[in-house]
Amino acid sequence: MFSKIAKIKLVSSHPEVYEPCDDSFALVDALLADQANLSDHRPTCCMEVGCGSGYVITSLALMLRNEVPEPFYIATDINPHAVRVTRETADAHGVDVDLVNTDIALGVEARLAGLVDVLVVNPPYVPTPEEEVGREGITSAWAGGENGLSVINKILPVADKLLSERGWLYLLTLSDNNPSKICLQMRKKGYASRVILQRSTEEESLHIIKFWRDANFQLEAKEYHSLMVKNGQQNVDKPGDFEFPELLSGGRHNCNAL
Ligand SMILES: C[S@@+](CC[C@H](N)C(=O)[O-])C[C@H]1O[C@@H](n2cnc3c(N)ncnc32)[C@H](O)[C@@H]1O
Repeated sequence: MFSKIAKIKLVSSHPEVYEPCDDSFALVDALLADQANLSDHRPTCCMEVGCGSGYVITSLALMLRNEVPEPFYIATDINPHAVRVTRETADAHGVDVDLVNTDIALGVEARLAGLVDVLVVNPPYVPTPEEEVGREGITSAWAGGENGLSVINKILPVADKLLSERGWLYLLTLSDNNPSKICLQMRKKGYASRVILQRSTEEESLHIIKFWRDANFQLEAKEYHSLMVKNGQQNVDKPGDFEFPELLSGGRHNCNAL
């Protein structure tokens, strides 16, 4: 009988690579909780940004092991040791994952634009001084800069480019990252959202948010962008510069449960 998720004893390690931890387990549990939907979704391309040990992408591949056609898996990490460790973890479980040592999706973004049906991200989310962001080795696993949002804010526009029309993004965030604001930011790009798992540990409160494109929100986003252009707003991706009044008063997205 095949295991549905990666076995910890088969997960490879390196002193400079993030070991599977509470956040990794929460993300895999969220994917397991959504497994029936994932199977029905029949993704053709699944991607992880920031794969670390490979525990998450390997677990996802094991969950979808019997799907026909089998999805293509790709994972990136800025840490070269993580890419090697993920390859060992995937091999130990007999799953095939393309691996790229890069910053978010640099170098593969054009090739994968609009093709990713499932994107999974457990980003560096810990609030730290800005100068720690992007440091080599294990620091890159957690250093998230101001409010833990520096890397998240770079990933979201890339995710928008990578995701297919029916693409789903599973993003892990911390309360300190202000997940409601992230949902509002994504709504401005036409995405609906739902918290599919919330877990408090001794140290942190984690949320796994699922995002998908919603026709009504896309229409609303178009109107929002026209309004921005009309008002001379230059950077439409910059969060928090210009808010829809009705967006702040609640609405259809589900992050108001946060
Ligand atoms: C919190 S760890 C998560 C690791 C693994 N996904 C897990 O859940 O156990 C964040 C990972 O993102 C990687 N990372 C940080 N900044 C990145 C960037 N700009 N591009 C790609 N990967 C990045 C780190 O090296 C680290 O492996």
